[in-house]
Amino acid sequence: MLKRAEKIGKIINSSKEIHIVSHIDADGITAGTIAYQTLKRLDKQCSIEFVKDLDNENLEKLKNDNHELVWFTDLGSSISTDFQDINKIITDHHACSEDSNKPFHLNPHLFGLDGTFEISGAGVTYLVSRAIDKKNIDLSPLAIVGACGDLQDRRYRKLKGMNREILSDGESINAVKAKIDIRFFGRESRPIFKMLQFASDPIIPGLTGREQACVGFLQELGITMKDGDSWRKWTDLCKDERRLIISSIAQLLLTKGFGHKITERIIGEVYILCNEQEGTEIHDAKEFATLLNSTARYGKCEVGLKVCLGNRDKWLAKARNLLLGHRQNLVVGLQFAKEEGIIKRKHLQFFHAGNGIRDTIVGIVANMLLNSEDVSSDLPLVGFANKGNGEVKVSARGTEELVEKGLNLSQAMKKAASALDSIGGGHDIAAGATIPQGTEEEFLDLLEKEIKTQLYSSSKADVL
Ligand code: C5P
Ligand code: C5P
Ligand code: ZN
Repeated sequence: MLKRAEKIGKIINSSKEIHIVSHIDADGITAGTIAYQTLKRLDKQCSIEFVKDLDNENLEKLKNDNHELVWFTDLGSSISTDFQDINKIITDHHACSEDSNKPFHLNPHLFGLDGTFEISGAGVTYLVSRAIDKKNIDLSPLAIVGACGDLQDRRYRKLKGMNREILSDGESINAVKAKIDIRFFGRESRPIFKMLQFASDPIIPGLTGREQACVGFLQELGITMKDGDSWRKWTDLCKDERRLIISSIAQLLLTKGFGHKITERIIGEVYILCNEQEGTEIHDAKEFATLLNSTARYGKCEVGLKVCLGNRDKWLAKARNLLLGHRQNLVVGLQFAKEEGIIKRKHLQFFHAGNGIRDTIVGIVANMLLNSEDVSSDLPLVGFANKGNGEVKVSARGTEELVEKGLNLSQAMKKAASALDSIGGGHDIAAGATIPQGTEEEFLDLLEKEIKTQLYSSSKADVL
């Protein structure tokens, strides 16, 4: 991978004008920022755009724009063998086939690594940046934010594989620090009861989704929730208070029969960005990623880009504003999907949000639902949302247990979509597709057939 990164670095060095195309999520923004900074430092003429996906319209436009070189980050693997009239380099981590192994294409799957958890789009882009100039090691924190944005720390409750090497780079310049702590979202910036209310990995029986119950739980433990006028955050608590809460949650899970494997998930590695201000969203890699998603998923990537480029005043304030909207949309989206109803089939379950949930966040909603008490985690969950142009966005999410049994949503979604002349793909545990409106039932039949084959013909499923 490092040799390929060097080769791609040489292509960059020998070009004058480079256009970056990246994905509209936290990993995409951090990947795009790393590419952009790298080119600026080389004094290249460069520009950047963020896209939802590489549809024909975007690709036609890129062809007509006639850039000297196009750098695709966090996407592009799906077109690595096509569109030869676009002079391109690709740094991506989505599942791809062996025939896409080209000198201009860097993707962990081509080198026997798993792009779901070993390295993200930002990480792959960082490898090229570092190969160009060792000084670009100061961009490693962005690659850690990208990996956390794609939940790459989830499988092992810490970053693994190449991500670990990138983490060492960040640690060597004191820009990142890994520490063992509670894994719930909002350690730094959310009131403690809110952090518990939104706990999803694992869910806390009786507390997740219930604000009053969380307040009562903390009161019973004798935890003071306010400091003067402001709510105390997890990071404001002293060691004993933190210990007490963690052991009480563990006890709660164990007495409800959740077992050690799930209970262990409360604790894991978290990543601190040492150069950012403590107590802000951008001090914790996971929270930084959510802040970026709040810009990217609403067509405001430039806000996230500015924050990543170091603007901590006007643009951080804008990003925070968008974060409020994002939170609100997720709460409303979860409620909407629950009310619409989740329909169970034999090998999958699904909901159709129609126009009720934005196509860009239906995947996040599906993920949260699958990790909630209201939805069974035995079946993959598929969410539909209208895109508004006669097309429907499909987002599918699985669990680690299903992946262990042979589930590969990337392949299943790709196959089901291509039977409808549409495009799908992603990762084993999370994948997406866009299909024509009206073909949802047919798509579900095709997808269910694929999932059934994966789960029941795989040798991993022998235990079933
Ligand atoms: O487009 P991209 O590859 O950047 O996004 C990865 C997707 O996979 C994210 O939506 C993330 O939430 C999902 N994911 C997941 N569980 C994991 C790893 C990734 O749901 N363990
Ligand atoms: O859009 P959603 O969050 O559901 O996407 C899940 C994963 O599938 C992401 O990694 C996304 O980049 C990928 N995806 C893809 N091809 C598509 C749609 C989504 O690779 N057509
Ligand atoms: Zn990604």
